[in-house]
Amino acid sequence: MFQVVPRWLLVATGVLLIPFVAIATLPFIVQPSSSPSPPAASRPTPTVSASPTIIAAVPMDAAHAGTTGTAQPGRAIVVKDVSKDPLPKNAQQAAAVKRGAQIFNDTATYAKEYSPNSALTCASCHINGGQQMGALPLTGVGPQFPEYNTRANRMFTLTDRILDCFSRSINGKRPAPESSEAVAVATYLMWISDGQPAGTNPPWRGQNKIADQDLIPIPKLDPQRGQQMYEQKCALCHQANGQGSGQGPSAVPPLWGDKSFNDGAGLARLYTFAGFIRYAMPLNAPGTLNDEEAQQIAAYVLSHDRPAYPTKDQDYVGVKMPVDAVYYSQQYPQNPLKR
Ligand code: HEC
Ligand code: HEC
Repeated sequence: MFQVVPRWLLVATGVLLIPFVAIATLPFIVQPSSSPSPPAASRPTPTVSASPTIIAAVPMDAAHAGTTGTAQPGRAIVVKDVSKDPLPKNAQQAAAVKRGAQIFNDTATYAKEYSPNSALTCASCHINGGQQMGALPLTGVGPQFPEYNTRANRMFTLTDRILDCFSRSINGKRPAPESSEAVAVATYLMWISDGQPAGTNPPWRGQNKIADQDLIPIPKLDPQRGQQMYEQKCALCHQANGQGSGQGPSAVPPLWGDKSFNDGAGLARLYTFAGFIRYAMPLNAPGTLNDEEAQQIAAYVLSHDRPAYPTKDQDYVGVKMPVDAVYYSQQYPQNPLKR
């Protein structure tokens, strides 16, 4: 996945070269200044560790330079690469890890049947193969399942969770739990979690959140202000029309419209979207948006139409619906951001 020069990189080369050179020459920095910071409540003291084992954790492509950090000394995300790092000795397992990585990084190519419409891959959001601080990292997450899921109001296996991201975030078709695709992705996610304990959340999990006291009530948000900020900070890559630059692992993914995540996806919730971009975007300067900017931009992006998840009426049955579920007509007869 690191061989191709992303198209968006060509657009933004000027801005990106500086952090890339910085990271290339300072391999000992494990918390670069541009790395996304977790919410203040749990923000760890920045550390500079000289541990040479962490050098390998710095992804080598410019696309992700400057965005790897550590949450705690000794608890860094150690980024693994299927083409370099040891795979399971068992040949079938090794093959499943590799296939899972391919599906994760280029879903439409390697799981075409289940992603017929989408320009997104799993790694569009779970950046760097699900191993990026501040971008919904999945290292150490697999071993925490089974776990209660609020939206479904039942216990979820890791596979249930993966399938939900297929049918909502990828706006695709749900693979059967026993399909080779679902099994491969689960095997890959367990491989990147190798050595991570079950029953203890890794410190980087659940950090794409804006603190409760900093949330702006939905009716107070102003999508027009959000649009101005979007044009300054996002349109360079995602374009003014939100469609990005096409499809596949080297493209900038769309933020709304037919090829985007659907309205039942996690990111279609306003505070979830804001928490994602607060720490993961702009890709070349993550952590530079403040809480308000992230929410205003989210209000603009989520004021647009996107594919409809067909069974939204079966979500949040028997539990309280979150106020930021702006596309749910049970709660809002029409999207409150569409004015
Ligand atoms: C449009 C963005 C997006 C895409 C694309 C996406 N996801 Fe997710 N994913 C999310 C969000 C948002 C969450 C919820 C994170 C949370 O609850 O904090 C999530 C959660 C998860 C979780 C559980 C994480 C946790 O900490 O509980 C797994 C596993 C997962 N996704 C796997 C996948 C897989 C596999 C794919 C590709 C088939 C994928 N995702 C595609 C946005 C996305
Ligand atoms: C320098 C280019 C660049 C800039 C600027 C940028 N992004 Fe992104 N964005 C990307 C790329 C590339 C990805 C896919 C990540 C990957 O493949 O590693 C992405 C992924 C995303 C995603 C998840 C996938 C999807 O399409 O839903 C969201 C949401 C997002 N960006 C929102 C924003 C917002 C909002 C801004 C402005 C605050 C922004 N981005 C600024 C390049 C950029």
